[in-house]
Amino acid sequence: MERFKNKVALVTGGSRNSGLDLVERFAREGAKVWTCGSSAASTAKGAEALSARGLAVATEPAPDGAWQVRAMPCDISDGAQVSALFDAIERESGRLDVLVNNAANQGIGQGGPLDMDPAGFLDVFKTNVFGGFRVTQQACRRFFVKQETRGCVVFLSSNTARRAIRNRTSYCASKGAINSLVRSLALDLGPLGIRVNCCAPGYIRTERWNTLDPAVAARRRKNCPLGREATGADIAGVVAFLASDDASNMSGEIVTVDAGCSCQHMPIDVDC
Ligand SMILES: NC(=O)c1ccc[n+]([C@@H]2O[C@H](COP(=O)([O-])OP(=O)(O)OC[C@H]3O[C@@H](n4cnc5c(N)ncnc54)[C@H](OP(=O)(O)O)[C@@H]3O)[C@@H](O)[C@H]2O)c1
Repeated sequence: MERFKNKVALVTGGSRNSGLDLVERFAREGAKVWTCGSSAASTAKGAEALSARGLAVATEPAPDGAWQVRAMPCDISDGAQVSALFDAIERESGRLDVLVNNAANQGIGQGGPLDMDPAGFLDVFKTNVFGGFRVTQQACRRFFVKQETRGCVVFLSSNTARRAIRNRTSYCASKGAINSLVRSLALDLGPLGIRVNCCAPGYIRTERWNTLDPAVAARRRKNCPLGREATGADIAGVVAFLASDDASNMSGEIVTVDAGCSCQHMPIDVDC
């Protein structure tokens, strides 16, 4: 399937974990994919990981046919860096068709709401909410509204937007804000022909799972009616669907991908 042939995509946060799977999925389906980590070092590491998956990755300007993935550092909480990224996309690719707002500050280790440093709360919002908004605004202003075939946007939110997890106040709040942002953008951008949707994952198997006590991993799986966490590829499949013409009549939707976790009142070992 090559649903993104002749299209250009930007996937933010493609330096590790699910971001790598998102970049790979769009590239394998024919897109030229731009991606960024927040720093030069993380972006280079991501580029290495994507090359190891057999993708042609450019970290500097290169002729169009020479790459499937173009990696450039961009801290999306910094307006100047976001503008520089979009300048490069305009200069080197001349168009953009798909934006995937994947980059996230997880807000891990901030403590509970009574103890946390309010500055940390703001940091999470600066990346997850304001950063996602700023990147979307640039994509729409500079490309989507000017192109005959309009672009579309997919945000990554989380099932924790609706069912909170402990000691992740800023993260949960930011993902709830993303859900509202998606509906608001869908309303205002729909008349311009721009679709905005959202994938809300539950547990995803990332590098962080490698440090989990196996009993904790097993307990987490019990939280899921399907009995397993998602892979990054599971998430990428749904995001690619939302960005494709297969979803051409969808906008403002939050699609939960959490192995059925959110549909239950109690996990199985509490019920029985
Ligand atoms: N993992 C889960 O179980 C889970 C569950 C529900 C939802 N999600 C959502 O799914 C998405 C992917 O999750 P994940 O666990 O794969 O994420 P992750 O491992 O935490 O990776 C986050 C990515 O975002 C980038 N990033 C962070 N701050 C940035 C900034 N200011 N500017 C640019 N890039 C920045 C990171 O780059 P650096 O390498 O430079 O830091 C990294 O590439 C996220 O939106 C996450 O919130 C994840």
